[in-house]
Amino acid sequence: MRSLTLPAAMALAACVSATPVAAPASKDLAGLADHLSSYITGFKNPSIVPSVGGKALCVSGIVDVTASATNHEFLRQASTNRTELTELLLGLFQINSTLPATIFGKPTQVSGTFSIYSQLCFPQDTLTISDTQGYTTFNYDRLGVGLSDHPDPLQVVQAELQIAIVHGISELLRSGALAAYKFEKVVAVGHSYGSIVTYGWTKEYPHDMDAAVLTALDLASVVNPILYSELPAGYITSSTITGLQFSFFRWPAYDEQLLYNAWENAQPLTLAEFLSGASILASPNTNFTGPVDVVDGEHDQANCAGNCLLPVDQTAPAITDFYPAASKSSDHYIAPGSGHFVNYHYAATGAYEHIHNFLKKNNF
Ligand SMILES: *[C@@H]1O[C@H](CO)[C@@H](O)[C@H](O)[C@H]1NC(C)=O
Ligand SMILES: *[C@@H]1O[C@H](CO)[C@@H](O)[C@H](O)[C@H]1NC(C)=O
Ligand SMILES: *[C@@H]1O[C@H](CO)[C@@H](O)[C@H](O)[C@H]1NC(C)=O
Repeated sequence: MRSLTLPAAMALAACVSATPVAAPASKDLAGLADHLSSYITGFKNPSIVPSVGGKALCVSGIVDVTASATNHEFLRQASTNRTELTELLLGLFQINSTLPATIFGKPTQVSGTFSIYSQLCFPQDTLTISDTQGYTTFNYDRLGVGLSDHPDPLQVVQAELQIAIVHGISELLRSGALAAYKFEKVVAVGHSYGSIVTYGWTKEYPHDMDAAVLTALDLASVVNPILYSELPAGYITSSTITGLQFSFFRWPAYDEQLLYNAWENAQPLTLAEFLSGASILASPNTNFTGPVDVVDGEHDQANCAGNCLLPVDQTAPAITDFYPAASKSSDHYIAPGSGHFVNYHYAATGAYEHIHNFLKKNNF
């Protein structure tokens, strides 16, 4: 099985980590612009804007999510010293390192109500179905990312709590607490660290979602980690654009402007959520029986040591190893030429087409 141990590389968190897609929107949602008061239900300080492509209407704002989880005590001090932080990671990733066993201590309960910046986008009308595919999408800033809360990066922001939060979000979506609409079908969609959260979510709460799409499922790597100056020590990201390129991009399969865009919009992840991700992937998910789709970039550096086709397509065993109970209509796809950040490469279009076909094939 892949990714059971931390690979010797690095990490940067994408802004949006897990995206349940509630689908498809029924016709009565089409006129929601006329029903603003229900549209903004559950959002604090809501704003309503068209989607980037202009074909969907989105409500954005803070959603209060109540969650509790069993984290583990993080036994190291956060360092603000780049040399020390880099050395800690190198020590952790050293072959047969004994350091990982000294990072986490006893289980600790965490709970609270967290402010999670969220966006819910409805297709504006059924005519635009070819643009939006007719799905209503929900995406959010993971705890510790973007406009969501930034609590203690080491004791609070860990993988288990991230899973509890996305579970809380799905309960809000299904119960009608958001947009006063009860979503009956939910498809979980993750990217990179968001796929680790999605993996744990499909295992601990297999009834929350009807299908799951995991893109770039792995622990990516942290190059020359730095701290976000305005955030507490323990929030880390790549310190150079070259580090970002090295870990997540493959030339010439992307438009260079998107590398700069990714660099300008980079968000941190915490040392503790990064390291706690390993245990989430440590055993197969025998709980989830729905369809699963695994999508990787052909040249994903951290996931496949740069070649996901060697010795054979690595996305197929990802399903059989991680999801032995998944539906036979599961699928997988390699995005040609792409690095880890599939969304930033030319191959993204083909990957999205594949994912939409996977959903249609499974009657979503
Ligand atoms: C960073 O840590 C190293 C190793 O502990 C130490 O030698 C160095 O002086 C520290 N640098 C700063 C700027 O504090
Ligand atoms: C590393 O550990 C594994 C078992 O955990 C062992 O099989 C292997 O021999 C060790 N490698 C080295 C170089 O000691
Ligand atoms: C999921 O599977 C694990 C064993 O891998 C089990 O302990 C757990 O109770 C299961 N959870 C659900 C919700 O089925």
